[in-house]
Amino acid sequence: MPSVLFVCLGNICRSPAAEGILRHLAAKDAIKELVVESCGIGAWHVGQLPDERMRHASKNRGFYLESRAQQFTYAFYDRFDLILAADREVLNALIQHAQLPEHKTKIKLITHFSSCYPDEEIPDPYYRGDSGFEQVLDMIEDSCHGILEHLRDA
Ligand code: 4NP
Repeated sequence: MPSVLFVCLGNICRSPAAEGILRHLAAKDAIKELVVESCGIGAWHVGQLPDERMRHASKNRGFYLESRAQQFTYAFYDRFDLILAADREVLNALIQHAQLPEHKTKIKLITHFSSCYPDEEIPDPYYRGDSGFEQVLDMIEDSCHGILEHLRDA
């Protein structure tokens, strides 16, 4: 069963949106067996629902975000096939903490499989206005289509 972990800083904006969107698209695509989770590098928001602004912007596109924030732990390097980071700060932290080469090869940017934004960083929308959330969702939606294509081909 393929498994994907999305990672950002706080796990209340970018990675929970990616989790909700990939899960939604996978269900529509009849990929029922996919395991999808998200987490943050930091512990500030553990247990919280995603940021209200992100939940609102996602709902307007038909995606419902219901995950609770959790912090990255070392066990995730084994548990997931693909570990996808929102930006290079997160990517570098994940690579630095990985001790095995087979863990490092699982780590890529969320946009790695995107056709419109390949390997671009998804900007942190936390301190930006509403347009920041729309831009993040555009990037994530395109990335999730690419991730599903990749999983279909795998
Ligand atoms: P995220 O956004 O990494 O996309 O969840 C952030 C949310 C909260 C904080 C930073 C980034 N924070 O510093 O609290």
